[in-house]
Amino acid sequence: MNAANPALARFELAKTAARSAGELALDYFRHPERIRIEEKVNAQDMVSQADREVETLIREAIGAQFPDDRIIGEEFGMDDREAEYTWVIDPIDGTSPFVHGIPAWCVSIALIAGGRYVAGVIFAPCANELYAAFEGAGATLNDRPLRLSESDTVANGLVGVGGSHRVPPEELSRFVHTLVQSGGMFIRNGSGALMLAYVAAGRLVAYYEPHINAWDCLAGICLIREAGGWTNDFLGEFDLATGGPVITAGPGAREQLLALIEKSATVKIEGPS
Ligand code: IPD
Ligand code: CA
Repeated sequence: MNAANPALARFELAKTAARSAGELALDYFRHPERIRIEEKVNAQDMVSQADREVETLIREAIGAQFPDDRIIGEEFGMDDREAEYTWVIDPIDGTSPFVHGIPAWCVSIALIAGGRYVAGVIFAPCANELYAAFEGAGATLNDRPLRLSESDTVANGLVGVGGSHRVPPEELSRFVHTLVQSGGMFIRNGSGALMLAYVAAGRLVAYYEPHINAWDCLAGICLIREAGGWTNDFLGEFDLATGGPVITAGPGAREQLLALIEKSATVKIEGPS
């Protein structure tokens, strides 16, 4: 353990815990007959025992080394303790693709402190890709540094779009309509965290979801910021328990994305007459 730098010691733990968690989840993914699915809010919003076991594994790994830290997780909620460091974890982001046998899911672990994005780790087991970022030290993908480019724009790249039952369908439609009408294109793979990691890696030029939970996005936000991209200040603006919009882009796409979001709020969709 890195006793001299407590944040760095936690970053190291986040990486090993994400890998172990991903391996446990991958074992379930490869044996779908063992996955027991339950509905959460509706039939599109689900959870499985794999999500709970994976979150338990991460919580135990954190608790063993840093028992006083606060933990917020998608499946077991948050405690009210005061702590310098808070972990925000999504054991399996992309539960829907996960249970449907689609390899677009990941483990997401964020570390925050005093309103700062200290570390973000996302592990995508099916691709064996570990995305990791530490405050002020940059972001990496499998140890290779990530640096976003000015030349990737909405016009020549892909914009990730997220949606859920929490967002009015018209709002999503208006954004997608405005984007496509302006010459851009959207993609949605079912894992907000993984698409945010793709923004950090320069695979997507931007990601927008009108409402997302903290465990889905904080690790991705840290990755994007450390890779040289821009994000709204989710931590500064929204409550950890209730979430809010996530707006992120590489340096070449930021202005276009913000203009598209603004325009989409008022656009009227008309079909062919
Ligand atoms: C969901 C996914 C989805 C996003 C939703 C999330 P889950 O998380 O990240 O892509 O659009 O906002 O709730 O249910 O797969 O952990
Ligand atoms: Ca999630």
